[in-house]
Amino acid sequence: MDEQREIGGYFGLEPGRHGSNPHAAARALNSARNCLLYVLLARRPDRLLLPAYLCDSMLEPLRRAAVEPAFYNVDADLEIAAEPALGGSDCLLYVNYFGLKNDYCRRLAARYGPALIVDDSQAFFAPPLACLATLYSPRKFFGVADGGYLYADASLDTALERDVSYDSLRHLAGRVDLGASAFYAEFCASERRLGGRPLRRMSALTEALLNGIDYEHARRTRRRNFRHLHAALGAANRLRIDADGIDGPMVYPFLSSDPALRQRLIARKVYVATYWKEVLHSAQASAWEKELVEHLLPLPIDQRYGEAEMQFIVDLVGARAAPCPT
Ligand SMILES: Cc1ncc(COP(=O)(O)O)c(C=O)c1O
Repeated sequence: MDEQREIGGYFGLEPGRHGSNPHAAARALNSARNCLLYVLLARRPDRLLLPAYLCDSMLEPLRRAAVEPAFYNVDADLEIAAEPALGGSDCLLYVNYFGLKNDYCRRLAARYGPALIVDDSQAFFAPPLACLATLYSPRKFFGVADGGYLYADASLDTALERDVSYDSLRHLAGRVDLGASAFYAEFCASERRLGGRPLRRMSALTEALLNGIDYEHARRTRRRNFRHLHAALGAANRLRIDADGIDGPMVYPFLSSDPALRQRLIARKVYVATYWKEVLHSAQASAWEKELVEHLLPLPIDQRYGEAEMQFIVDLVGARAAPCPT
């Protein structure tokens, strides 16, 4: 759009203005991976230490900024398994897994402050910490096609162009009209479009959509739904969860001992993602991390759902597979 403001004419989408965006003060960019790219270009570390249990898309910024990766493993509590040896110019990235690790992130910030990058892509509601950078991926919590929020001590002095996303909303609009499975291929195409995308500011459309969200409602609903699932399924969950200090998490991570459960859920249209298949082929990943990929079921707890859906999930998880006919 040119600099002069258009006045009049037809209307565009009107997502409203809720005014409760918790990241209104952040730098708004076009994806979380590009938030990492921004920090790496601004800070230029020699190496970035990062977990082997992570999606491949977060390696792209290291290649683009020519920063060497070094991997660490996570333990049964999803915390760094062994104290990393950080060189003077190294940085350390930790993922606030599923939004469960707020307290641990605070401890890491106190210990590694200026070298620490917290990836809150799965913890939209966690506040930014006193460290090198905290980054967020709103797409994992809300109906937008792209975008990232960044708080960072370091900054680039180049002016960034604004991205556009009007051409990658079909899966969002289509889901409202016809449901998720009818537009799954378009969702995948929209995800692929984020790969290798230039570092840009968040599109005006994504920004407008994000400003229309009732964040307090989303946070409260997620908290309530998470508690419902944890109360019903916590005892059967092989992942240890300390529920104190968890606020507005992404999903309820259920580590199952039932290998058929993922398919049972999907067959009843409870869609659970696999985080992250590529870890199965990683030479650095531990057996535990590969087990997480195979058996961890991220159960939906988001603001679209309430008690009835949570109970439906609890019943499905609790249901034993029908005994084999003899
Ligand atoms: C933990 C984590 N961090 C960052 C990203 C990248 O986020 P974005 O797709 O917004 O670049 C992902 C995957 O998409 C992720 O799972």
